[in-house]
Amino acid sequence: MELSITRAGELKPHPADSELSFGTIFTDHMFNMDYDPEKGWHDPRIEPYGPFILSPACMVLHYGQAIFEGLKAFRTADGRIQLFRPRKNLARLNESARRLCIPEIDEEFALQCLKQLVSIDRDWVPSARGTSLYIRPFIIATDPYIGLRSSHTYRFSIILSPVGAYYPEGFDPVKIWITDKYVRAVRGGVGHVKTAGNYAASLYATEEAHKEGYTQVLWLDGVELKYVEEVGSMNIFFVMDGELVTPMLNGSILPGITRDSVIHLARSWGVTVTERRIGIEEVFESHRNGKLSEVFGAGTAAVISPVGTIKFKDREITIGDGSAGPVSRRLFNALTDIQYGKDRGPDGWIEPVA
Ligand code: COI
Repeated sequence: MELSITRAGELKPHPADSELSFGTIFTDHMFNMDYDPEKGWHDPRIEPYGPFILSPACMVLHYGQAIFEGLKAFRTADGRIQLFRPRKNLARLNESARRLCIPEIDEEFALQCLKQLVSIDRDWVPSARGTSLYIRPFIIATDPYIGLRSSHTYRFSIILSPVGAYYPEGFDPVKIWITDKYVRAVRGGVGHVKTAGNYAASLYATEEAHKEGYTQVLWLDGVELKYVEEVGSMNIFFVMDGELVTPMLNGSILPGITRDSVIHLARSWGVTVTERRIGIEEVFESHRNGKLSEVFGAGTAAVISPVGTIKFKDREITIGDGSAGPVSRRLFNALTDIQYGKDRGPDGWIEPVA
């Protein structure tokens, strides 16, 4: 397949790095490719960033057959541009596609298109530490049909957004709220893939958390409401008794790429990392015993996000002295040193953009 390129006639002004927040500004170009049963995936093209024209009967609008990814391009101190583990994201996009009955994409071809898009919009990659170009690949169902079945046609797009910190707190610890009233996902459902509905399902409880003064919701398992799962925008880690502990992938938790990177880095330093079931009562118990020294989230958008406060029912605990701990700091520094090209990192983690 040949990738066609149409350049934007007029280029938009770029914001200063210091003004960047998360996800509000989009670059000059985007990637689009369509699917139909006769041609398969076809017509891959980079074109000016712009709106879609969709039928109001378009299936994604009614039944939510939509999947997405999130990854980042970074500018190194000497001006090179590099992607962090993009192959993992494209492999996960195909995992999500299989679960949502969406035809898979050719991962290698998609990576070449993604790199070409970033290269065309390379001037949009910010350079200040803490900033990056967030890359959002997504696939939506486009059949104009309101009966319930999987769509026969799809659009695969990639858009780019220069970003700063995801949480307004930056690297300052966030406050999280645990609900035993709502659940994000259940085993056998779609919690382990990146589909729009998981995020829609999280909104109501997140609004409640905000009203109570908390940044995010920490979800418990959908069956017994006893075991810690994830935060929705990131996976969760605990430092208990010197060990790094995180919920095991059980079918309802997203297998985060930052989660995988944290586990890999910590093990390479000789830290014991355990993936297992973690009861919420165990978290409170280990806090009571003085064994819980750190809690942090890990995700592409959030990077490493220390958790300072956890609230569950009428109990609220402060983790350590409420500030970021040494394990979170070390992981944040190691990860971002690799992402910004200060360290090489494990083989295959960094993909240069020409
Ligand atoms: C990401 O971290 O890339 C995500 O997709 C989470 C989203 C809520 C911003």
